[in-house]
Amino acid sequence: MATPDALDALFPAHLAALADTATSALAATGASALVVGAGFAKLRFLDDQPDPFVVSPHFKAWAPVLDAPGSFIVHVPGRKPTLLFHQPEDYWHKPPTMPSGAWLNSFDVRVLRNPVEARAQVPTGAAYVGEPFAGCDEWGFAAVNPPALLQRLHWARAVKSPYELACMRRAAALGARAHQAAAAAFTAGASEYQIHLAYLEASGHTEAELPYPNIIALNEGAAILHYTQLKRANPPVRRSFLIDAGAQYRGYACDITRTHAASVSPFSDLIAGLDALEQRLCAMVRPGVPYADIHLEAHRLVAELLVEQGVVTCSADAAVATELTSVFFPHGVGHLLGLQVHDVAGHQSAPEGGNSPPPPGHPYLRLTRRLAPGTVVTIEPGVYFIDLLLDRARQDGRGRHIDWDTVADLAPYGGVRIEDDVVATATGPENLTRAAFAALGA
Ligand code: GLY
Ligand code: MN
Ligand code: MN
Repeated sequence: MATPDALDALFPAHLAALADTATSALAATGASALVVGAGFAKLRFLDDQPDPFVVSPHFKAWAPVLDAPGSFIVHVPGRKPTLLFHQPEDYWHKPPTMPSGAWLNSFDVRVLRNPVEARAQVPTGAAYVGEPFAGCDEWGFAAVNPPALLQRLHWARAVKSPYELACMRRAAALGARAHQAAAAAFTAGASEYQIHLAYLEASGHTEAELPYPNIIALNEGAAILHYTQLKRANPPVRRSFLIDAGAQYRGYACDITRTHAASVSPFSDLIAGLDALEQRLCAMVRPGVPYADIHLEAHRLVAELLVEQGVVTCSADAAVATELTSVFFPHGVGHLLGLQVHDVAGHQSAPEGGNSPPPPGHPYLRLTRRLAPGTVVTIEPGVYFIDLLLDRARQDGRGRHIDWDTVADLAPYGGVRIEDDVVATATGPENLTRAAFAALGA
């Protein structure tokens, strides 16, 4: 980025904190330096075409360069980090553009014409973090992806620096703008595929730049949690629209879901009810709160909503106790978010490792850590009408407490999910997503 940017002022402190974390992680694991690999371009099986390059999250935490196959960062404690930027001489393809911007002043930069030239820059006793590559055993690394080092780096990633939060606010702004365009396309009668194109255009992203494949579902498709079919044809009747789609800024993701109804109906009541309960859950995103508590509260609130909407006929307490809520809400309430859409170490119990499993009966909960100031999580409750799970409930007896007529009325709408990205701060939750929509006047 050539023009001055508010992020420029934040980047040095981000890098310094990252370097401190790396230095203590190295000390704890006995390595003297850290080499972070960006990754490599790879050809498809029996093909001369590459898959889109996806940079390693560790690399983009250090340097906001997403097009960097074959590049490395070298961190020697106490020294300015080195960016070994791979820029091949190539007339078939456009070589990666030399990075620019004030952040680059924090690095010594050397250009590699071939990734193997990095070998001469590997300090003695260095640990390598990155995709293993042919011949890396001979580069003199003390260790390749040692778990004790990775765990410490992964643990620290949950808490974002002010620079990272600023990047995530911008990702949220891009996502909100694109969601708004997608909602307008739905209202105008667009197909799933056309909505997808409207989303891409408004986000300014190519498909490969999205942090995860867009989930854009009309009607029953909304009952498939990760539906990515993008039907070209329009259904004869348009009842509902679920969109789970993100964006990224400097490699930091947003992850946003909205559900729309084509008209006022019991389904639009369900959306309104879920939206209200989602905001109650977002209000729980505070330092010190065990994230599993938010998930369990989500089940309690979903149970109340199912009773209110006449979907289940037992009490809310009974719906939770018998795991009837899991028929309609069969995924976790959210996850860590940042360099990856499902950011790592959600079950880790300490910087040095350990595993905190999800509570019994909730195997899909991706995050069991206690929130700290600066932790960014998604909050994404849902209610779906999934044939497979409804059939199981019918068979195992839980179906006795389901109002099947109501389910038959709602099933053609697929389901509803509302997802926001929220930061736990000392002064309360910061909802990145709602703030981004509000800034658009939405
Ligand atoms: N978009 C994937 C998720 O919400 O976790
Ligand atoms: Mn999510
Ligand atoms: Mn999502």
